[in-house]
Amino acid sequence: MSLTTVILAAGKGTRMKSSIPKVLHKIANKPIVEHIIETVQALECSSINLVYGHGAEQLQSALSEYSLNWCLQEEQLGTGHAVMQAMSFIDDNEDVLILVGDAPLISTDTLRSLIQAKKNCALALLTVNMDDPTGMGRIIREKGNITAIVEHKDATEQQRKITEINTGIMIMNGADLRRWLGDLSNENAQNEYYLTDVISMAAAEGKTIGSAQPFWNKEVEGINNRLQLATLERALQEKIAEGLMLEGVTLADPKRIDVRGELSVGTDVHIDVNVVFEGEVHISDDVSIGPNCVLKNCNISAGTKVQAFSHIENANIGESCIIGPYARLRPGTVLGNNAKIGNFVETKKARIGNESKVNHLSYIGDAVVGEKVNIGAGTITCNYDGVNKSQTTIGDSVFVGSNSALVAPVKLGNSVTIGAGSVVTKNVDDNELAIGRSKQRNIANWERPVKRNKD
Ligand code: UD1
Ligand code: CA
Repeated sequence: MSLTTVILAAGKGTRMKSSIPKVLHKIANKPIVEHIIETVQALECSSINLVYGHGAEQLQSALSEYSLNWCLQEEQLGTGHAVMQAMSFIDDNEDVLILVGDAPLISTDTLRSLIQAKKNCALALLTVNMDDPTGMGRIIREKGNITAIVEHKDATEQQRKITEINTGIMIMNGADLRRWLGDLSNENAQNEYYLTDVISMAAAEGKTIGSAQPFWNKEVEGINNRLQLATLERALQEKIAEGLMLEGVTLADPKRIDVRGELSVGTDVHIDVNVVFEGEVHISDDVSIGPNCVLKNCNISAGTKVQAFSHIENANIGESCIIGPYARLRPGTVLGNNAKIGNFVETKKARIGNESKVNHLSYIGDAVVGEKVNIGAGTITCNYDGVNKSQTTIGDSVFVGSNSALVAPVKLGNSVTIGAGSVVTKNVDDNELAIGRSKQRNIANWERPVKRNKD
């Protein structure tokens, strides 16, 4: 049977105290609702219906890359009313998986087990046992069979003792859902149209109601305030850290790593404390990452050492390189094998060949550097004239003396030597020495100035 999904995300999220809609707040740098959309996409459902209410423009621009049916719920009259707004997109003969929009950690495995539970019944609920179920809808069972959900505010003292609660995630057939929604009323403690009332309607029709439980309780925790946002962020990061360690990565401290994207790793990778990974990062075998580094959308090849406080973005790093401490590799940096980028060196759109070194205090931008090149301390590629960017090309085995300025566009051939302190404005051919600095004068018997008497 084909499957469609409804994500309920019209709630205002008042407790976030924010100008952006609750579901756009981020976990692992991705909006809460995007986590859910991507999880349900993996189920290969025919459509995703998003019920929204607040911040339409912000939501639509943030989620423009997804194919969604946008269902406006102008007034938040309850979860049942919210689902009604999606019904025009839903066929009678498909199964409808309903999810809450504020529980980002729900997994495809858990949803698959709920879908499985629905196979032998008319409706299946994802339930969980909570030590403190205050505020939640309680699952009412008779002789083990689910017969109703009673909301906390409507529950008796006795019912409030029940610890099995409704996560808000459920699945049923489209035609049943349409029929039951038609019979909802808002005569309850909150004057809302409760989606949860469909359970007793199903039971009254003699239908069987199945249930499933999440693999991990955090999967069904919702976010209502920033405390819960931070709690789930940590829970997710701990889980990612656990996964990495089980894959064979050594983490100096599993509580001090943040993965905000996709991190893939080889064997015997070592990651020190406070490293942040963003976007897609691949780290090959025997790589070590020092403390306090940020790595974003980059590839680090085998045997490379990234030392403390380095920052690498949109870069491709070869094998057995040594980077940092305190290096900044900006977008478009490509390093060959055995290259070295040392402290306070910034690179941008720079290809640096095998065994080349830029060890101290340099800026190398819009440059192609050959193999076995040594760039002395303080060398700058002057790539910008205030209007245009120009290219610096450096051949193999070049030695650039310290504190040189290579004024682009400029080309240095192979085995060129540049005298320290040069300002290089003209191309230099293979094997030439270029010195572009004022000549030193020595003045004999120089008398130093003496301090004047104050009168
Ligand atoms: C609901 C359930 C409760 C369950 C709890 C789990 C009902 C009546 N109650 O409680 O049994 O234990 O979720 O968290 O369903 N929403 C809308 N439009 C609305 C109301 C809500 O889109 O008019 C959305 C919210 O944005 C949220 C979700 O539905 O994503 C759940 O709403 P919320 O108010 O958090 O749940 P409760 O009513 O407290
Ligand atoms: Ca509510």
